[in-house]
Amino acid sequence: MPGYAEIYRRSLATPEAFWAEAAGAVDWETRWERVLDDSRPPFYRWFAGGRLNTCWNALDRHVAAGNGERTALIWDSPVTGTIKSFTYRELRDRVARFAGGLAGLGVRAGDRVLIYMPMVPEAAIAMLACARIGAIHSVVFGGFAPHELATRIDDAKPRVIVAASCGVEVNRVIPYQPLVDAAIAEARSKPDACVMLQRPMGRAALTPGRDHDWHELEAAAQPADCVPVLATDPLYILYTSGTTGVPKGVVRDNGGYAVALAWSMRHIYGVAPDEVFWTASDVGWVVGHSYIVYAPLIHGCTTVMYEGKPVGTPDAGAFWRVIEQHDVRVFFTAPTAFRAIKREDPEGALIRAHDLSRFRALFLAGERADPPTVAWAEEQLKVPVIDHWWQTETGWPIGANCLGIERMPVKHGSCTRAVPGWDVRVLEADAVGEAREVPAGEIGALAVKLPLPPGALPTLWQAEERFVESYLSAYPGYYQTADAGMIDSDGYIHVMTRTDDIINVAAHRLSTGEIEEVVASHPDVAECAVMGVADALKGQVPLALVVLKAGAARAPQQIEAEVVALVRQRIGPIASLRTTLIVERLPKTRSGKILRGTMRSIADGTEYRMPATIDDPAILPEIEAALKQAGYGGEPR
Ligand code: COA
Ligand code: AMP
Repeated sequence: MPGYAEIYRRSLATPEAFWAEAAGAVDWETRWERVLDDSRPPFYRWFAGGRLNTCWNALDRHVAAGNGERTALIWDSPVTGTIKSFTYRELRDRVARFAGGLAGLGVRAGDRVLIYMPMVPEAAIAMLACARIGAIHSVVFGGFAPHELATRIDDAKPRVIVAASCGVEVNRVIPYQPLVDAAIAEARSKPDACVMLQRPMGRAALTPGRDHDWHELEAAAQPADCVPVLATDPLYILYTSGTTGVPKGVVRDNGGYAVALAWSMRHIYGVAPDEVFWTASDVGWVVGHSYIVYAPLIHGCTTVMYEGKPVGTPDAGAFWRVIEQHDVRVFFTAPTAFRAIKREDPEGALIRAHDLSRFRALFLAGERADPPTVAWAEEQLKVPVIDHWWQTETGWPIGANCLGIERMPVKHGSCTRAVPGWDVRVLEADAVGEAREVPAGEIGALAVKLPLPPGALPTLWQAEERFVESYLSAYPGYYQTADAGMIDSDGYIHVMTRTDDIINVAAHRLSTGEIEEVVASHPDVAECAVMGVADALKGQVPLALVVLKAGAARAPQQIEAEVVALVRQRIGPIASLRTTLIVERLPKTRSGKILRGTMRSIADGTEYRMPATIDDPAILPEIEAALKQAGYGGEPR
């Protein structure tokens, strides 16, 4: 195989030839008319006119090729004490039946199905069943509260909601039925039906006329065949935090996505079709869509679905137990999981208690991989530890050390180089607002020259204008990643920070703007500022500073607790807002903008300069004192 430089060059010089060749790894019902339809910039479509079925590519074709007895999926659930395997044939059969069940509820190609499930195999079955009949799934992470679910229901307008009766966290069972009921009650758009997977550790009371028992539906259904769809038809909508309370519905197509994922498994992760690949994430996130469900199955691997945590299920050796027991060759997780393990097992004793001799590589993503964590993982595991950079929007990695092409030297703090297909540039706006590339080593906005490669978002769900405004208008001709960073003289990408109000909490993406909206809705809050402050485990956690209305009825301590509870109730437990501090006033510029960045520096104990535009410099010492008293301003907590 040619080296990275040649493959990268070819991917940008002749993208149509490059991706047409890659498309050979996927089965097509009808070959495409154009590899790249660029007739309507800035909108680009890959494999226009082509027809395929993503479920066929993930399951049926492997059975047809004689690999039906190969293990497709291993469900490993320490929280319920269960391990269960499915061959490709078994998974295909269950998916076909469930797809028939959905069709029986009236779901047709193009209809939306919302999936709100924990890490159970039925979550993957539901996703693949939608793909099978051309329906569009929208999976919502189980840690989101009913209100978040309701906003997604109203945007996607699903015909059917598929849920499980409960999720199982380390120390508690979370009933989902009340959350689903509350979300449906709040939403304006009502689904025709719900399908409920009854789990023995917490059964749901079904609503007659609306709810169907998963197993009864599946047992009574006729298996459905794969329905070929256009390559450009949506496979799914995945909502992600925007800068307001209205989440962005990232659309993923069928054809480009399948091609990009198949290519990535071989070239980025360097895995062979019959190997075991494990991503410890959640199907509610993009990482779960791409690398728990679709990519490993399309590539013919065995994928592991893990319902547990890095620590506490039962201990910090859980990951090593799974790797040894299931013969995992390549593993992908978030740095925060490693920080959790390192905290409990700093000497790696539990690592050495397992035979990891066949394990080849660890990939990290979802947040910045901090060099101490990467160094610790390298030292303990003695395999390549690969930081790679991507986003919900991109669907697969933008920057990585492509192990399947050529292993490049690792630089801590960098995700290595741009992945073939991604023309990554560092930009700044010049005096007249035109995009200008900055020299190597200088920080600017990380952007990708259009067209984006296959697999990246073609648009936002029924929000074309928002798509252009959010991603394509700041630097015409480029996709704005909203990450800032630099490319050094060796071409290595260093992702530093977001340029918007998105924060990254335990590799979960949250908007401080959205949290502020919730905090501000408390009746005693006059104004507030929410910032992401450094946290030794989660990378960042939100901190709310609140100014009370004059004559606030309740005691300050009670208000602080209520604000924390409100965020948990409206957004969900994963928002992890633990601290609300009441202050007299907030520092602002003369034009009235709250100086969040300055307050964040104070909270993180990093150096800051008094902003020249500050309206009243006397406020900063007050804020500093309040933060110090609450324990901020030193080492990350
Ligand atoms: N359903 C319901 N609640 C959930 C949930 C889910 N699917 N996932 C998390 N929660 C809850 C947790 O129980 C916790 O609740 P609590 O405040 O009552 O304790 C809260 O949300 C915060 O969860 P989390 O951020 O996961 O913190 P934690 O302290 O429980 O665990 C880590 C910390 C680092 C172990 C954990 O965040 C982790 O494993 N992170 C890896 C994340 C990851 O893989 N991300 C994927 C992107 S690649
Ligand atoms: P999400 O859409 O939830 O996957 O979050 C995407 C964001 O997470 C990116 O825009 C980055 O800010 C951050 N991120 C993901 N991977 C990395 C990485 N390898 N290095 C630095 N930041 C990352």
